[in-house]
Amino acid sequence: MLKTVVCVSGGGTNLQAVMDGIRQGAITNVEIVRVISNNRKAYAIERAKQAGIEAVCVSPKEYEDRARFNEAFLRAVDEAAPDLIVLAGFLVVIPPELIRRYENRIINIHPSLIPSFCGTGYYGLKVHEAALARGVKVTGATVHFVDEGTDTGPILMQKPVAVLEEDTPEILQKRVMEEAEWVILPKCLDLIANGRVTVKGGRVHISE
Ligand code: GRF
Repeated sequence: MLKTVVCVSGGGTNLQAVMDGIRQGAITNVEIVRVISNNRKAYAIERAKQAGIEAVCVSPKEYEDRARFNEAFLRAVDEAAPDLIVLAGFLVVIPPELIRRYENRIINIHPSLIPSFCGTGYYGLKVHEAALARGVKVTGATVHFVDEGTDTGPILMQKPVAVLEEDTPEILQKRVMEEAEWVILPKCLDLIANGRVTVKGGRVHISE
């Protein structure tokens, strides 16, 4: 069983897609043991509670400095003793110590086809605003392992989504979530939980 911690900041629709996948059997051998949010008001916390999953809030605002937040965040993760950490719309910089401690055991979902529209400052609607401003015809979502950079770790899976003439950032964001994020994140969890993913030399291999 892959004990999994999911870190959230907002609406939690990716968390919901994973919970639904587990309940429906599309994801096997995964147990979400804890949801951690940096935002007390995140609806993702409500989603976790409705599913009977423990949700804790560790907010940087409640610590006098970043070092103390990092310690508390690390503790909240370690207490759950996860095999995998999933960043599902988590908008806080991950402590480098956590990345070292959980090397190649942290994945993130990003709402673009990395390396486009990613890195510092590219999150939420900003990603889709940049894609529309650039005039790309295809965007999508990426699941990648987290390393010390921002959106720079080994790519596990990507799914393209067409950009349409009438798209606004909000319409595009919704379609990328529905057609890409909510599809590839559950798939990646199932692959990892069933031993089909290895990372070698900075590249991800998925076995048949
Ligand atoms: C998603 O678009 C995700 O790709 C991005 O933040 C958003 C989180 O949405 N990282 P939700 O909280 O999963 O609904």
